[in-house]
Amino acid sequence: MKNIVLIGFMAVGKTTVGRMLSDKLNFKFIDTDEVIENKCNKTIQNIFAEFGEGYFRKIESDVVKIASSCTDTVISCGGGTPKDPDNVRSLEKNGMIICLKADADAICKRADISSGIRPILYNKSKNEIEDLMLKRQKYYDVAQYFVDTSDLTPEEVADMIIEYYRKETDFYVP
Ligand code: S3P
Repeated sequence: MKNIVLIGFMAVGKTTVGRMLSDKLNFKFIDTDEVIENKCNKTIQNIFAEFGEGYFRKIESDVVKIASSCTDTVISCGGGTPKDPDNVRSLEKNGMIICLKADADAICKRADISSGIRPILYNKSKNEIEDLMLKRQKYYDVAQYFVDTSDLTPEEVADMIIEYYRKETDFYVP
């Protein structure tokens, strides 16, 4: 079966919803950031600090290629994954791409900005985050479906995505 690929800005809920979806559909689950951390045996924060963003993006592309060759898999991407058109091409070959969205208030509340675990958001103001969201929008517009998670529970989001998936694939979910 086709993969479900979750893209979207940081802290919109890709990992939480992705895990829930994989449980509900009995699909495998791949979180690209988690695979990168395991591969490097370092946190994303340390990979950025020690080797820089370019190095991270290269590994991210390698991981995306491998993830894209799977089937029956929910793939939760990092927020910057669709910036590389090759990543999008790989992911959409056998995947339905869903973009999760949230408003800047929800993102600021969820993202733990001052912790540094997301280097791109580190110590950013709400205005700066809104600017970045706008700049990133064009990369997220490649999705087939969009779900605003700001006021929904992860389960509500997962159930909406299952509906889209059912429509798209005739997949039976009891
Ligand atoms: C990034 C998002 C992060 C992670 C890395 C870069 C980005 O993933 O891949 O810190 O450029 O948007 P999340 O979207 O899961 O936070």
